[in-house]
Amino acid sequence: MAKEKSHYISGRESRRIAKNNRKVTKEFEKKKKRKNVEAEYLTEMKDPNNIIEFENLHTYFYTDTGTVKAVNGVTFSIPAGSTVGVVGESGCGKSVTSLSLMQLVQGPSGQIVDGSIRFRTNAFRRDQKGEKIPVYETEEVDGKTVFKKDKKGKPIHKKNELGGNLYEMDEKVYDIAKMPTEAMRSIRGREISMIFQEPMTSLNPVFTIGNQLDEVAFLHIEGISKKDAKARSIEMLQLVGIADPEGVYKKYPHELSGGMRQRVMIAMSLLCNPRLIIADEPTTALDVTIQAQILDLLREIKGKINGSIMLITHDLGVVAEMADYVVVMYAGKIIEMGTAEDIFDRPLHPYTIGLQKSKPTVDGEVESLYCIPGFVPNPINMPNYCYFRDRCDKCKRECAGEYPELVKVTDTHSVSCYLYKPQNTEES
Ligand SMILES: Nc1ncnc2c1ncn2[C@@H]1O[C@H](COP(=O)(O)OP(=O)(O)OP(=O)(O)O)[C@@H](O)[C@H]1O
Ligand code: SF4
Ligand SMILES: [Mg+2]
Repeated sequence: MAKEKSHYISGRESRRIAKNNRKVTKEFEKKKKRKNVEAEYLTEMKDPNNIIEFENLHTYFYTDTGTVKAVNGVTFSIPAGSTVGVVGESGCGKSVTSLSLMQLVQGPSGQIVDGSIRFRTNAFRRDQKGEKIPVYETEEVDGKTVFKKDKKGKPIHKKNELGGNLYEMDEKVYDIAKMPTEAMRSIRGREISMIFQEPMTSLNPVFTIGNQLDEVAFLHIEGISKKDAKARSIEMLQLVGIADPEGVYKKYPHELSGGMRQRVMIAMSLLCNPRLIIADEPTTALDVTIQAQILDLLREIKGKINGSIMLITHDLGVVAEMADYVVVMYAGKIIEMGTAEDIFDRPLHPYTIGLQKSKPTVDGEVESLYCIPGFVPNPINMPNYCYFRDRCDKCKRECAGEYPELVKVTDTHSVSCYLYKPQNTEES
């Protein structure tokens, strides 16, 4: 019996799991490489005000010691123009949720196995051969509208607001979880961009900042000229508050401070006018004063661009300042979500209450920081009761039952805990 409970598995068992994993992941990889048929991932938003809707998302890692359910049935939305904060302890699945949205989960072991990620996209309209349909400059000749031609007699491509070629577009809703990898390329970087925690690892040390910014423009803004790319890069460096954008454009990453590098990353993420920016722990590697500046910058930028931000952090203070809505994750599941006021003024789940207590305050009378006792359960062998039970000081008899469902206690506030009943915040 003791052996059964142990976290160690025999070599034979591990080989059996590995063999099975190869079979499962091969199928998923094959699906990702399949021919692009739009009808297979074309869908509708449940609420037209949202830009993203995660529904029952499951992302697993098939490891030789067992399956890690990193994201285990996550459902939440990001309304257009809002900032949604995703918080939780290390390893709770915040990054894997965002990587799933970008289709950047490390394969073949990591796979989206179930659920939907609906995204409102500005998709290219395609002709019968699957080619994008260009928009050309026109002029009036003898009362007729005709294409303007260049010196070689070719029609002149009309330019979009970024200086790239203009194509016919349609607003559509795609289910990213079901999209083949190839189709995802036109969304990633162009419509959804990402700011990572450590700018030094995302910037290439051997190229100048200008080189790397221009490269992003060339990659995602088809037909942009060198001159326009440079102008766009410099404009973005200026937008993120860099005082000498032309100078910084010529510099190498190591010549900049951490805060400046993070500003460059933000500039890079803004280059293509994305609809959604994912910021994964954007200030964790920075000093406190620089953190505050970067947060101010993100807030300021959100006002300027017409987009939404998904802000991932383990720091409740950061979301309190920035977010309109907050999602609290624990061991791959959402345990509470609501507006920022719901979560900060009326936290319900014992874990969220614990997180609040462990947050340092400026006027802090707190002498020592509170630490939630205990550990997150082993991700390979999750129990079927509440994952927080072994750490919870409010545990009652029902808590031995099945994992509690996420229930709505008000129109905006949901929690997954036996202490609460739907539309009733009073303890039962
Ligand atoms: N490549 C991988 N292979 C196996 N397991 C992984 C892999 N990447 C992530 N995981 C597991 O998935 C779970 C969720 O990880 P994730 O990176 O999303 O956590 P997080 O909430 O972003 O944590 P942090 O705050 O430390 O960044 C963890 O249990 C982690 O060990
Ligand atoms: S369901 Fe029970 S064990 Fe889980 S958090 Fe709520 S009170 Fe605690
Ligand atoms: Mg992370």
